[in-house]
Amino acid sequence: MIDLGVNIDHVATLRQARLTYEPDPVWAAAAAHLGGADAITVHLREDRRHIVDRDVELLRASVQSKLNLEMAATDEMVGIACRLMPEMSTLVPEGRHEVTTEGGLDVAGQEARLKDVVRRMQDAGIYVSLFIDADMKQIEAAARVGAQACEIHTGPYARAFHENGRDIESAAAQAELKKVGAGGTAIIDCGMRFNAGHALNYINVQPIAGLPGLRELHIGHAIVSRAVFVGLTEAVREMKRLIRQDADIK
Ligand code: PXP
Repeated sequence: MIDLGVNIDHVATLRQARLTYEPDPVWAAAAAHLGGADAITVHLREDRRHIVDRDVELLRASVQSKLNLEMAATDEMVGIACRLMPEMSTLVPEGRHEVTTEGGLDVAGQEARLKDVVRRMQDAGIYVSLFIDADMKQIEAAARVGAQACEIHTGPYARAFHENGRDIESAAAQAELKKVGAGGTAIIDCGMRFNAGHALNYINVQPIAGLPGLRELHIGHAIVSRAVFVGLTEAVREMKRLIRQDADIK
């Protein structure tokens, strides 16, 4: 069974557009839970552009499934994580000028620093995942720094799929799908848990969900977008049916 982590950052984006109190990501977590979310994911960014500290504090107190805190590997964020104790932290690269996370973490380029961060969080009892590109060099480095899981960045797959007529048989989409699959196999061979996410939606998710050994998908923008029309609980329910391959909702 593949688990679904629902990223609710963009519920907070809507709130921050008016600098007001609604919609509340805490309500979103409850609605996602009712739809079958296995985890709630939030990214507390350095610039607090969507999720803010108050959200993570209240979510920590109220989420009864798994809370996955996406964060940069900074001392500030390690301190927050070790105080709030999410079940899982996913370390991501962070740039102030990016619209969304643009690439995987360069683990190989900062092994010593990441080894220290991973150890500090694991010592506190947090399960650590690294968001990386489907690249052997990064996967091997992730294993060396002691990560328990890797989330493969599916953005390049999603782009190839959409730029090639949304045709999963296209050579470009197939090539990117193969890279994610090979990355997943390598992650599992290195003794880590294989997760994936980014830019997945109701149209492109099923080939990824069919990859052997995949344990979790982390999806945000597409689910929150669909929620505008069908409600968040229903949007989550439809995505869960898709990733468990027992429906064909597009
Ligand atoms: N996984 C990671 C590590 C991310 O940074 C994001 C975006 O915040 C997602 C998954 C979800 O991406 P999307 O919103 O495109 O579904």
